[in-house]
Amino acid sequence: MGLKILVVGGGGREHALVWKIAKSPLVEKIYAAPGNPGIAGNAELVHVSVDDLPRLRDFAVSKRIDLTVVGPEAPLAAGLTDLLAREGLLVCGPSKAAAQLEGSKVFTKNILAKYGIPTADFRVFDEFDDAQQYVLTHRLPLVIKADGLAAGKGVAVAGTYEEAIAFLRDVMVDRVFGAAGERVVVEDCLTGEEASYIVFTDGEKIVPLPTSQDHKRIGDDDTGPNTGGMGAYSPAPVVTPEVERKALEKIFEPLLAGMRAEGMPFRGILYGGLMIERGEPKVLEFNVRFGDPEAQPLFMRLDSDLVPLLIQCAQGKLTDAEMKIDPRPTVCIVMSSGGYPGSYKKGFPITGIDEAERLGGVQVFHAGTAMKDGKLVNNGGRVLGVTAVDKDIRSAIGRGYRAVEAIHWEGAYFRTDIGKRALARISDRAP
Ligand code: AMP
Ligand code: GLY
Repeated sequence: MGLKILVVGGGGREHALVWKIAKSPLVEKIYAAPGNPGIAGNAELVHVSVDDLPRLRDFAVSKRIDLTVVGPEAPLAAGLTDLLAREGLLVCGPSKAAAQLEGSKVFTKNILAKYGIPTADFRVFDEFDDAQQYVLTHRLPLVIKADGLAAGKGVAVAGTYEEAIAFLRDVMVDRVFGAAGERVVVEDCLTGEEASYIVFTDGEKIVPLPTSQDHKRIGDDDTGPNTGGMGAYSPAPVVTPEVERKALEKIFEPLLAGMRAEGMPFRGILYGGLMIERGEPKVLEFNVRFGDPEAQPLFMRLDSDLVPLLIQCAQGKLTDAEMKIDPRPTVCIVMSSGGYPGSYKKGFPITGIDEAERLGGVQVFHAGTAMKDGKLVNNGGRVLGVTAVDKDIRSAIGRGYRAVEAIHWEGAYFRTDIGKRALARISDRAP
C-alpha cells in the first residue's frame, strides 16, 4: 500500500514540494490544503485554509494521512505538529515550542547568545521609551525587529534616527503587527552577502540541502521594498565548502544541541538566513520550513527521493542518507502581479506556460494563481516561479529568462538580475 501524504500550503514552495513528492514510488495519493491550480495537476485539493488547525486535523484523521508536510510557518508556530501528533499522526515540521525559532526573534536571539552562536549584538525592549532612548545613542545603521511573525515585514534596517523611531512607533505604539510588536529586538547591522542554508534534521543529525540564495527586494540591484522573495538560485558560490563547514560547526550543531538541552528538540526543516563576510557566517534569522522561492530551485536539483527524508525527520531518526544532487545549477525567476508588494489587480488571464515548459529544463511552479471562467488568472502577489536547469549558471539564467519571456498577463513583473551575484563571483574566480 502506498503512502497518503498531505501538504499544507498553496504557494510556489508547496507546488515544488508536491511536484517532487509525486515522483516518489512510495506515494499513492497526495492531498494539498488549500493548494493551487498548478498543484491540482499532482494532488487532490482540500478546501481548508492553513490557519484552520482543527479542520486540518479532522481531515488528516479521517483520511488516515501517513505523513503531513507543512509548508508555511504560521501553522507550525500555532502548533499544528503537536495537534496532529496527539492523534498519532506523523508530521514533518517542528513542535510549537521549537517553532519559536521563527515565531519569536527574542527567543532566537536569547538562544543564540546563550549557546555562543555568531549573530549580531542585540538588546531586547518591551517599552517604547526605553527602546527609543537606546536607539538614539546607537550608531547607524541599525536593525529593528518586531518579536513575532509579521509576514516578512517586521524588520527595518534604518539608516536615519527618524526612520528608526518611526518604525519603533509603528511596531510598539501603533501595533501595526498586533501582538508581534509587544517586544522588539534592536541589533547591529551586519554587512556581507546573504545566503540561505537549509537542512533536514531529526534534532541531532543533519542532512543539508545544497546552498541557495534568495533575492528579497522588489527591484533590480536589490532596490525598493522587501518581498517574500523575487527569485533564487542554487548553488550559491558565496557559501564555499569552508563557509559551509563553519555554518555546521559554529551554528547548526550548537543550536540543535542547545534546543535539546532546552527540552525542545528541533525536528524538521531548519533554514538559516546567514550573512557571510570574509568567509565568516553569522545568523540573521532562522525559518522553520523550506524557503520560498528557494525550494523551487532546490527540489529541481534533488535527485534523491524526498519522501524518505521527510519521514525520517518526522520520526526523529534521520539515517546518514546520502543525498543525490544534480550538479547542474538551477535558477527560479518569480513573476509577480504589477504593484506587488503594494496593492495590485487580480484576474488577468495568464498565457504561455506550456510554451515556456516546452523549452525543456523548465518547470513553472504556481503560487498566486486561480481558475476563473475556465482560464488561469493571477490571484496573488507572487504568481509564478519559473525555474530552469542547465549546464552552468549562465545558461540556467538564460534558459529561465527565455521561459519568462514566453509568459504573459497584464502587468506581469519580474526582476531582470536573478543570479547576477553568482555570475560576478564566478568571473572573480576566473584566471
Ligand atoms: P529577518 O526576517 O530577520 O531575516 O530579516 C529580514 C531581512 O532583513 C534579512 O534577510 C536581511 O536582509 C535584513 N537583516 C536582518 N537582520 C539584519 C542585520 N542584523 N544586519 C543587516 N541586515 C539584516
Ligand atoms: N525566501 C525567504 C523565505 O522563505 O523566508
